[in-house]
Amino acid sequence: MKTSEAVLPSTKPQPDVPWWRGAAIYQIYPRSFCDSNGDGIGDLPGITQRLEHVARLGVDAIWVSPFFKSPMRDFGYDVADYCDVDPIFGTLADFDAMVKRAHELGLKVTIDQVYAHTSDLHPWFEESRQDQLNDKADWYVWADPRPDGSPPSNWQSVFGGPAWTWDARRKQYYLHNFLSSQPQMNAHNPDVQDALLGVMRFWLDRGVDGFRLDALNFLMHDPTLRDNPPAPDDGRRKTRPFDYQLKIYNQSHPDILRFIQRVRELCDQYGAVFTVAEVGGDLAETEMKAFTAGEDHLNSAYGFDFLYADKLTPKFVEQAVAKWPDTPGIGWPSWAFENHDAPRALSRWCGLDDREAFARLKAMLFTSLRGNIIVYQGEELGLTQVEIPFEQLQDPEAIANWPLTLSRDGARTPMPWVVQSGEGGFTCGAPWLPLGEENLARAVDRQEADPSSLLNLTTRLLRLRRENDALRLGSFQVLHADECLLAIRRVSGEQSIAGLFNLSSVPVVWPQGLVRDGKELASVNGAIVGQLPPFGALLIEERI
Ligand code: GLC
Repeated sequence: MKTSEAVLPSTKPQPDVPWWRGAAIYQIYPRSFCDSNGDGIGDLPGITQRLEHVARLGVDAIWVSPFFKSPMRDFGYDVADYCDVDPIFGTLADFDAMVKRAHELGLKVTIDQVYAHTSDLHPWFEESRQDQLNDKADWYVWADPRPDGSPPSNWQSVFGGPAWTWDARRKQYYLHNFLSSQPQMNAHNPDVQDALLGVMRFWLDRGVDGFRLDALNFLMHDPTLRDNPPAPDDGRRKTRPFDYQLKIYNQSHPDILRFIQRVRELCDQYGAVFTVAEVGGDLAETEMKAFTAGEDHLNSAYGFDFLYADKLTPKFVEQAVAKWPDTPGIGWPSWAFENHDAPRALSRWCGLDDREAFARLKAMLFTSLRGNIIVYQGEELGLTQVEIPFEQLQDPEAIANWPLTLSRDGARTPMPWVVQSGEGGFTCGAPWLPLGEENLARAVDRQEADPSSLLNLTTRLLRLRRENDALRLGSFQVLHADECLLAIRRVSGEQSIAGLFNLSSVPVVWPQGLVRDGKELASVNGAIVGQLPPFGALLIEERI
């Protein structure tokens, strides 16, 4: 299957359903996808070259992590120009070419928008920090010191240390919820909102189909700067000062909802634009629901349930999905098992010897969830976490919090494309992070040639989801969830599909009558009707 024609996705026409509902979205981390110019860092022309791989998988869309002009302190999540491409990644013309190719292949394009903060090198901040009277003086969150000179509040930053940094020019502190080089925008200011919506319009006019809104619950703070209260001891490990507080005043201001409504109004002018918020933290469930409620907010949101989970259990899946009932007014969830912010799932969820079997089970379970599913680059290959020694760490969070880090570098390693090529065909130079020997052996070309590979299984499952309304759009019911077995039913119209998953390393015999007889749609790890070997899983189209 090498020609473009062969990779065109086989979408079933769904006149009444927006394209993004039930979609599978493939996340591309540009630095690590494909390097076209030998500098060891992936780029936009590299993405364009490799888009056929993505289309062949049968996903609906790509989400591309930031490629905007940036000093790369947080690898692009520190934007210095929202409307230009960083030279490391290419040019605006390269972006246009990428969008054109994606659209030819039937893929929608979703891009990342980071609105809570900019880089300290953004001209808006450079102007804002000059003095207290300039035109952008109130575009960021500035505050006087307390009488004793200490920061205006006790707020702590996600990446460690106080969330306030002193600036001698203004004789004031500025707020930053992440790095000190990521000053917090003051989105309470209507001019800031207008500017951000202008950015959104710029990319909509360039043809993008959707946005992932980064760290959206950090968008607005409490303007009276109240101290956060201490967090009660809930038994969870505390590794950073940030973990010792209930984050209720540095973020999560209710006016975020008004901005979201403005985003929606704008997007509605452009048709079926997809909007998905990233929402972390203790209030994530409430906030995700508020951000996606009704028809005048965002389409979807995702949190960190699965991304930070140490173990995947039937009860865990049941509880996560139960948060999003199929009820009028409740939004549509998105799910990620992996992304650039969390260790690879196979390294978190199973023992070394079980990885191959577990990866298959995981792929089937993931493609059976109700909501949108976000596949992180390399997940389709079964990539595992690469151990990065301290001297090679790149992520500022990891360097600051070593050894108690979020381990993001090990999940950001380059894609292995060609097993026999130096650096896996990712680059002809020296890659910015090592690929990892084990991951090299999982290269795309090797898996394409093997009909029983995880890559080919994932492709079949994604296509099954695309072609079966019950899997893509149907209701979700948990029939059974114990220590080992998860049984679900997805129903849409006349179609009912049962999914049976053995999440354990012991065989499971499922109780008679749990699901109805029917046609087997897919099976992994030797599962047959009635019996699930270790990590066995089965999808059955039930006779109604
Ligand atoms: C989001 C991004 C993460 C980044 C942070 C700060 O959580 O996914 O990579 O470091 O926001 O922008």
